[in-house]
Amino acid sequence: MDKTASLTRGNPDPFSIEYASTLDTKDPLQDCRSNFHIPTLADLKRSTLAKPPNEDPSTPCTYLCGNSLGLQPVRTGDLVNVFLTQWRTKAVTGHFVEHTDSPLPPFLDIDDHAAKLMAPLVGAFEAEVAVMGTLTGNLHFLMSSFYRPDKKGSGRWKILLEGKAFPSDHYAIESQIVHHGLDPAETMVLLEPNNHRHPVLPTEQILKTIDEHASELALVLLPGIQFYTGQYFDIPRITAHAHEHGILIGWDLAHAVGNVDVKLHDWDVDFAAWCTYKYLNSGPGAMAGIFVNEKYGKVEMEGSIPKFWPRLSGWWGDDKSTRFQMTNKFVPRPGAKGYQLSNPSALDLAAVVASLQIFNETSMTDLRQKSLRLTAYLEQLLNTMALRKPGLFDIITPRNPSERGAQLSIRLAPGLLDNVLEHLEHEGVIIDERKPDVIRVAPAPLYNNFTDVFRFCQVLETALDKAASKT
Ligand SMILES: Cc1ncc(COP(=O)(O)O)c(C=O)c1O
Repeated sequence: MDKTASLTRGNPDPFSIEYASTLDTKDPLQDCRSNFHIPTLADLKRSTLAKPPNEDPSTPCTYLCGNSLGLQPVRTGDLVNVFLTQWRTKAVTGHFVEHTDSPLPPFLDIDDHAAKLMAPLVGAFEAEVAVMGTLTGNLHFLMSSFYRPDKKGSGRWKILLEGKAFPSDHYAIESQIVHHGLDPAETMVLLEPNNHRHPVLPTEQILKTIDEHASELALVLLPGIQFYTGQYFDIPRITAHAHEHGILIGWDLAHAVGNVDVKLHDWDVDFAAWCTYKYLNSGPGAMAGIFVNEKYGKVEMEGSIPKFWPRLSGWWGDDKSTRFQMTNKFVPRPGAKGYQLSNPSALDLAAVVASLQIFNETSMTDLRQKSLRLTAYLEQLLNTMALRKPGLFDIITPRNPSERGAQLSIRLAPGLLDNVLEHLEHEGVIIDERKPDVIRVAPAPLYNNFTDVFRFCQVLETALDKAASKT
């Protein structure tokens, strides 16, 4: 079919580059893309980092892998260089002194600056957010504060989690349980999907499991968005249900922050943790974020004795005005910042700030609106393709847009994965895979466009044909 002709006849074919470009020109967030470095095909194929002087010009790759590692913002290099200059020219005084021409605060305040920029992304008060540590470490710190099993007293000692939780979460929970002298086999209540080919967990099943174990549950810890299926859990409903039973609840938001419009304060979440290297584009292993509901961040003085929700403590969580007096009398900063332990890496935070600045130039509401359109377009093209290629793949992410974020997870027919990946890689299409048969495709609304989605589907269709012909 002549796709251009069909578009001009007023009957546009969604599976066409013209249609995709029309959607791009109508996209109010289209300019956000220019904030990012998109690797070219030549960048990806070259065996060196440096570009040889005689290299031909190359086109950007199709990058749909922000669920794994976000792209580098253009301004990250600038802010990291500001950090280097500040350190090089000011040394220790860089901790304290404001510089009139610097976009970064003194090192001593850079964590607070990052938290201020982070708070609107998660629907939190500034005081409820800290940028610190790394995700798994933070889950441990938060569990040390919020998981306080009391088998003999209140009878609450179990933790509800998914049977297919991200391994690090599973290990963290398991080791916390062992740390409390309990047996993980008896203590972990695992949510298992009823259908292993479509392993989503219906909200009703989660609520029912909470009901069944309510009197023994000390904690529920779930992902906001499931890493494998892309399922977006009903955070407000599950949180409210856990609270009705007096159970504390925390959320791992690794795949949710920067992806969907979460409202952690309004949803009355107790605590949450997330990384910044996926949708938050801060670089591999960059410093992470935590949310602690203001209820648990209060510090009340009884005479000279501070009363606060228990936690593991370090000097960076100590009252900022007296931190350097070295008194060994811990008075936590109110809010999530009282959970900080060590002085943070200003190098790392320069990259986090660079990325958060971009988010603060738009809003999660607008980004989510675009994301819903992008992912719906991806789904629409995949649906069309599925009619042409029956039996070759299946989408395992929920079909209801409010139950998913940007990502669609696609289960391929047995034996296709390796050949499909080979062709995608050859064509410069970057997605990620979960062996033996799932690919995850995530159009990130900050830098992906409708043309990326079209190109992915076009290349995938050829990849499927090639792979099927080899089986
Ligand atoms: C859902 C989830 N939880 C935990 C982790 C572990 O993160 P980190 O290595 O930053 O601790 C990841 C990493 O991708 C993840 O996706």
